[in-house]
Amino acid sequence: MNQTLPKYKSIIFTLFIISSLLQAQSHQFSRKLSSKSLGFKKEKLTHIHFYFHDIISGDHPTVVRVAEAPTSNTSSTFFGITAVIDDLLTAGPEPTSKVVGRAQGIYAFDGLNDARLLMALNYVFTEGKYNGSTLSILGSNALFSPVREMPIVGGSGLFRFARGYALAKTYSRNASTGDAIVEYNVYVLHY
Ligand SMILES: *[C@@H]1O[C@H](CO)[C@@H](O)[C@H](O)[C@H]1NC(C)=O
Ligand SMILES: *[C@@H]1O[C@H](CO)[C@@H](O)[C@H](O)[C@H]1NC(C)=O
Ligand SMILES: *[C@@H]1O[C@H](CO)[C@@H](O)[C@H](O)[C@H]1NC(C)=O
Repeated sequence: MNQTLPKYKSIIFTLFIISSLLQAQSHQFSRKLSSKSLGFKKEKLTHIHFYFHDIISGDHPTVVRVAEAPTSNTSSTFFGITAVIDDLLTAGPEPTSKVVGRAQGIYAFDGLNDARLLMALNYVFTEGKYNGSTLSILGSNALFSPVREMPIVGGSGLFRFARGYALAKTYSRNASTGDAIVEYNVYVLHY
């Protein structure tokens, strides 16, 4: 009996070490991976083209003003006005053309002396293989420049690890209502 006791002790000690190691592994904070292990193959460049419908007026606006400063309405640059949007994205310029997704998020007039919008938007695609994938834009939209460039800072689904840029160009704007159709050319690197 006295001789078997040390043996039990060493078995228990070994089990203790193994369980500590397993526990340490399950609580591991970070680890290195190969990109293949998550199914990422070669990085590719994709061009996406669509039209963005910014509807402020009428019974079914897709833009709602949610905040402003007491001075926003008298500011020549609307400084402080903040809106939440859920704008339709279509393949062609007509609002009735094929729907490819929606632009959802926030924009705010953040230029004290020039008309600029902080754009914090997600483009949620619903078309074909991109259905359910998103791209995130975070940029400065200089409203009176003919072409506005904004960074693509990320994405989800087929656009995981996305980065790139969007070029926005006003296609048409109704001067009385402010409703606008904006053409987007997006260039994005992703896997
Ligand atoms: C600013 O103008 C908007 C739209 O005309 C109006 O709804 C809002 O009440 C005005 N805000 C202030 C602080 O005057
Ligand atoms: C996109 O995916 C959703 C959810 O899976 C589905 O209900 C919808 O019909 C799809 N749309 C298109 C255009 O394939
Ligand atoms: C602008 O909008 C108004 C009100 O909906 C409409 O009557 C007018 O025809 C529009 N103008 C243009 C150029 O589309």
